[in-house]
Amino acid sequence: MQIQATKDGSHTLFNATLNETYHSKFGAIEESKYVFLEQGLRAFISKKVNTQQEPITVFEIGYGTGLNALLFANFATENKVQIQYTGIDILPLSKALMEQLNYVQLLPAISKKHFEQLNEAAWDEHTQINDCFEINKFHTDLHQFDYTQYIQTFDLILMDAFAPDKQPDMWQNKVFKDFYLLCKPEAIVVTYTSKGTVKRGLLEAGFTVEKLPGPPMKRHMLRATKPLQNETI
Ligand SMILES: C[S@@+](CC[C@H](N)C(=O)[O-])C[C@H]1O[C@@H](n2cnc3c(N)ncnc32)[C@H](O)[C@@H]1O
Repeated sequence: MQIQATKDGSHTLFNATLNETYHSKFGAIEESKYVFLEQGLRAFISKKVNTQQEPITVFEIGYGTGLNALLFANFATENKVQIQYTGIDILPLSKALMEQLNYVQLLPAISKKHFEQLNEAAWDEHTQINDCFEINKFHTDLHQFDYTQYIQTFDLILMDAFAPDKQPDMWQNKVFKDFYLLCKPEAIVVTYTSKGTVKRGLLEAGFTVEKLPGPPMKRHMLRATKPLQNETI
């Protein structure tokens, strides 16, 4: 695994086996902020009237460097929003590698503490980062993940697997059907790709799908929403 700098100065990792980077080469932090934080979390918050002030439940496929979790922990803390974050990855990265990434130098000061806490959080255990943010990192294969415990659990799914042409198994229609079961009504799924097969898979699963402008140098991304009326599964 090799560390590379992207256009906004933030690091990504290069997976030589797949010949693929973990983030957009045009900006790792910019991509994560735009696709997952802005078009995912902020969109969910602005659409949903959360009268009960319930925690927002987030599921990330492909935890990787933890950059998305870090941005979400910062957001939760700064905005006093409760977030319960679940991330899965088949290949957790070593702490030594994580410590070489430059995210905390480029993000607000609170990031340093959060990144350390996220890296220290044990896999397959629950960790309370602070009053606003808690995390479960699962070391598992998406295809082995026990969905049955999480039916209608999540408000937001961050689909951050490697690209469909590199890892097509992660983007099969069955995966999107499982997402549908995992989602609460009105939940959102966001992903950086706008590939036609992905859009069709999400539609077939029952989501409504929007093609949105993409992050820098990428034309489009997708946001899928589970309809309110289909509360029965
Ligand atoms: C594009 S990278 C994720 C980037 C990550 N969100 C970040 O910000 O660093 C894709 C991730 O999916 C993980 N992955 C690959 N196959 C998987 C599988 N079958 N189940 C779960 N995770 C998988 C990889 O190990 C990798 O960390």
